[in-house]
Amino acid sequence: MIYFNNAATSYPKPKEVFEAVNEYFNAPTCHSARTGLEVDPDDKASNARQKLARLFNVDDFNQIVFTSGSTEALNLAINGIGLKKGSHVVSTAIEHNSVIRPLKHLERDEGVEVDFVLCDEYTYVEPSKIEEAIKPNTKAVVVNHSSNVTGSILDLEAISSIAHKHGALIIVDASQSAGNIPIDVKSWDIDLLSFTGHKSLYGIQGIGGLYLKKGLNVKPLKVGGTGLKSEVLTQPTEMPLYYEAGTPNMPGIVSLDAGVGYILEKGIDVLRQKKVDIVKTFINEFKDYPEIDIYTRGDRNSYVNFCFNIRGMVPEEVGYVLDSSYDITVRTGLHCAPMILKPLGVYPWGTVRVSPSSFTVDSEVDKFIEAIKETVKTFVRKEK
Ligand SMILES: Cc1ncc(COP(=O)(O)O)c(C=O)c1O
Repeated sequence: MIYFNNAATSYPKPKEVFEAVNEYFNAPTCHSARTGLEVDPDDKASNARQKLARLFNVDDFNQIVFTSGSTEALNLAINGIGLKKGSHVVSTAIEHNSVIRPLKHLERDEGVEVDFVLCDEYTYVEPSKIEEAIKPNTKAVVVNHSSNVTGSILDLEAISSIAHKHGALIIVDASQSAGNIPIDVKSWDIDLLSFTGHKSLYGIQGIGGLYLKKGLNVKPLKVGGTGLKSEVLTQPTEMPLYYEAGTPNMPGIVSLDAGVGYILEKGIDVLRQKKVDIVKTFINEFKDYPEIDIYTRGDRNSYVNFCFNIRGMVPEEVGYVLDSSYDITVRTGLHCAPMILKPLGVYPWGTVRVSPSSFTVDSEVDKFIEAIKETVKTFVRKEK
């Protein structure tokens, strides 16, 4: 199988990830120390936090808490900051449902006012448009760093400075960018940033996390056992315990430690460049095809996914042909991001998204190009 669905979940993982998880399961799966309060070289959770802190340029690694993924991290951030009737939130049309749904639930259930700023034809959202949407009661700006559909990248530094100028927090969904694009939490002055472990950070599914700036008042989503301070009848407020009730997902944390370690060792730019080269090859190959519309475009794009449609075929048909005739797995449809599809003019059918990995080899690239050429010829091209 040729696997081109890495933006959903990455495959394969580096061998270092397999080895680390395997080693973990070959010993008693004892509870992590979970202190976070002192650096224990054997504490895998602290190791993973330190590596993530390096990757995101975070000063205090204990400000990074683990969750089951980005969805949980975004729920924690969005529901934890005290939004209530009378509060206003600015978000964008390039969001994933992990942002849209928590915001829409707050709108429906709590009377929070939410505005989603439209994107342009490159699915880019100008920071000035975000500023225009801000009102005196805006409490938060919630933005996707990089679209999981087209790959467009928003200017977090500019958006953060706009949010702060108006007294609002900035919450960032870095699910697609983490591991693909350098992130600088400190110099961009980000308040809350969610990431997922199983995509470009090469971890296994069920792990992710949230960075929280020091001093923010964010209510935990859950409270309970921490393995420490059992005599205290309410949730200990030390970081990261405050947000990590319950037995941690240690296999996930161990995988993330190994995955982020791999990125730090190889270099994020080197790993991304491999994907960019592949995506640009696809774009060059198909840019002159009148039957193909390409949505990965513009100056402000990560170019790690090739997002397109073949005219006259719905995305599912393309996905079916690729799978059944060529054993190529891609993602088709709405990509859990319904709002971005309207400005692209492809709602409600969506697009085809091809997301290679740094492990993709040339023969896989060639086979995909051949498969698309044949598909166009067989199903849509009117030969004279
Ligand atoms: C932009 C974006 N946000 C959020 C998520 C949800 O991440 P998780 O699978 O960790 O809950 C995804 C995953 O598809 C995504 O692409």
